[in-house]
Amino acid sequence: MKKALVFVFLIIVLDISQADDRFRPQYHLLPPSNWLNDPNGPVYYNGYYHMFFQYDPNSPGHFYSKDMVHWIGLPIAIAPEQPYDINGIWTGSTSVVDGVPIIIYTGINETHAQVQCQARPANLTDPTLSKWIKWPSNPLIISPNGRDPSTSFQDDHNNYYLIYGFGSDELGGQAVLFTSRDFVNWTYLHPIHSNHYDTFWECPDIFNVSNRLVMKVSLRGQDFWAVGELDPIQKIFHPLAGDVGEYTQLIDQGKFYASKSFYDPIHDQQVIVGWIAEDDDQGEKRGWQGMHSLPRSIFLSNDGLQLGSCPIEALQTLRVEESHRYFHNIVLPSTIPFELVPDVSGNQIELIINWQFPRDKVNTHFWKTFLIDLSMKLFSQDLDFGLSVLSTLGGSQRTSVGIMTRANTTFMPNWDVPGWDYFSVPGITNSLDCQHAFGNTELGGKLDLYLRLKQSETKQQQQQQQLVWVYTNRTLSQRSSGASRDPLAGTIWLESESLNDQWFLELNIFIDHSVVEVFEP
Ligand SMILES: *[C@@H]1O[C@H](CO)[C@@H](O)[C@H](O)[C@H]1NC(C)=O
Ligand SMILES: *[C@@H]1O[C@H](CO)[C@@H](O)[C@H](O)[C@H]1NC(C)=O
Ligand SMILES: *[C@@H]1O[C@H](CO)[C@@H](O)[C@H](O)[C@H]1NC(C)=O
Ligand SMILES: *[C@@H]1O[C@H](CO)[C@@H](O)[C@H](O)[C@H]1NC(C)=O
Ligand SMILES: *[C@@H]1O[C@H](CO)[C@@H](O)[C@H](O)[C@H]1NC(C)=O
Ligand SMILES: *[C@@H]1O[C@H](CO)[C@@H](O)[C@H](O)[C@H]1NC(C)=O
Repeated sequence: MKKALVFVFLIIVLDISQADDRFRPQYHLLPPSNWLNDPNGPVYYNGYYHMFFQYDPNSPGHFYSKDMVHWIGLPIAIAPEQPYDINGIWTGSTSVVDGVPIIIYTGINETHAQVQCQARPANLTDPTLSKWIKWPSNPLIISPNGRDPSTSFQDDHNNYYLIYGFGSDELGGQAVLFTSRDFVNWTYLHPIHSNHYDTFWECPDIFNVSNRLVMKVSLRGQDFWAVGELDPIQKIFHPLAGDVGEYTQLIDQGKFYASKSFYDPIHDQQVIVGWIAEDDDQGEKRGWQGMHSLPRSIFLSNDGLQLGSCPIEALQTLRVEESHRYFHNIVLPSTIPFELVPDVSGNQIELIINWQFPRDKVNTHFWKTFLIDLSMKLFSQDLDFGLSVLSTLGGSQRTSVGIMTRANTTFMPNWDVPGWDYFSVPGITNSLDCQHAFGNTELGGKLDLYLRLKQSETKQQQQQQQLVWVYTNRTLSQRSSGASRDPLAGTIWLESESLNDQWFLELNIFIDHSVVEVFEP
């Protein structure tokens, strides 16, 4: 398995001076109105997936779903009305304990301290789990003053454990560990892990993937992973390779934060969902703000040290078979931009693109030359290429997803990458496909088009690898002056095929009105 690069970014293509919902995503989870942020307490129970989320104002929203693709809205799950949570019900997780889904969440009490509280379903046979009852002896944990309790795990002696985020200038960021025998009486142990990349950690999760332990933490505005081991006696987490907070450990290179993960027993997979925040200041005009990423399945590389994630398989049910388009053997012309498929448009599209190019154009010698002559910025039009999406007809507004062959592994959030738009897929010309509007109940839509560009034959034995950057250029993505235009970039390894000396790159791109998610499958 390869290491997957993923990043998401939000773009709003046109000015939205009039209320217009053509930018509203149709197959990403978001409530009918108001803001949403952190995903909370995802769980599979009794035939349904449940997702809770931080929701304006301060009460968790709740959706449930058969497949994690089509979501149905439910009333506010748990309202802040007790002294211990009167100022907010913040992020929490669900653990299934002896068959009962139990939520532990952070309550913001009357004096604004963060305390950990519990709630259980009022009716276990109700598949919607729409009513929850707070535990009578809440709050269960009052110190230290941290937040975002994780799903629990157990040791060989039936003790329960959970962690939550904490930290200070002196201590750095921490995930603090608690234990309990009965899930009610929790005893503080110690920080299970900490470091000084930040002064507070949010939304820590700890889970198994392929017999390895993974910790996930939100800090410095991004989500990081570390593969490690738990000392069975000391109960301390030791990262095996990179640590959380290091930029080699990003879960996603884009706008992806406060993620929550959970075990999906139906597909035997650990699923992670992050909060995608807009990179603009138009939320009030729109009436909605924030969404969840597509659910992603987590995997580890063969050596067990690298974490990757890919869109869950169920998303393929959104593909509308009759509108699939396949394009084979497209040769990039030397003039740019080049309109790939003039009759293709839409803003709910999934693309699978398979690029192939001659290896001799990316040989090591050439790269060395480049490194010496740093003034040579654009070194080959043959090798840097991209795709522009959500483009207006003339292309004056568009967003590029591109490939850049550069031998530099240093993290560079603001590299000045050339934003060429080879393939132009004019998008936003009709807003008909926005008609799958969000009703009160059902969230989700259909993909209008599934565009598959497949250029290569079956991949042969991997002979050599080459590092390239995948980046997005958002300079022309939107007009709003409050919009962020920073490029987002991450590195991946190209694969080569021994047969005909080509490099290969495959990207899977999800376009949903104002959000674009890019995966290397
Ligand atoms: C619990 O939920 C089930 C299924 O919806 C319903 O039939 C039953 O009446 C509910 N029980 C109570 C006490 O509300
Ligand atoms: C809020 O929680 C803190 C920490 O436990 C506690 O010291 C404080 O008394 C609580 N406030 C109220 C009004 O209960
Ligand atoms: C809670 O657990 C601790 C540690 O096991 C124990 O000492 C204490 O008596 C328990 N408290 C209650 C109220 O059960
Ligand atoms: C990981 O798996 C082991 C063995 O099944 C289990 O004891 C442990 O609780 C799991 N850890 C987590 C964090 O889920
Ligand atoms: C890699 O990029 C970093 C950050 O822009 C820069 O400081 C460094 O000189 C570059 N290294 C090479 C070998 O180009
Ligand atoms: C992004 O695209 C714009 C418009 O084509 C271009 O002027 C700019 O140089 C590109 N920026 C980056 C960082 O690639």
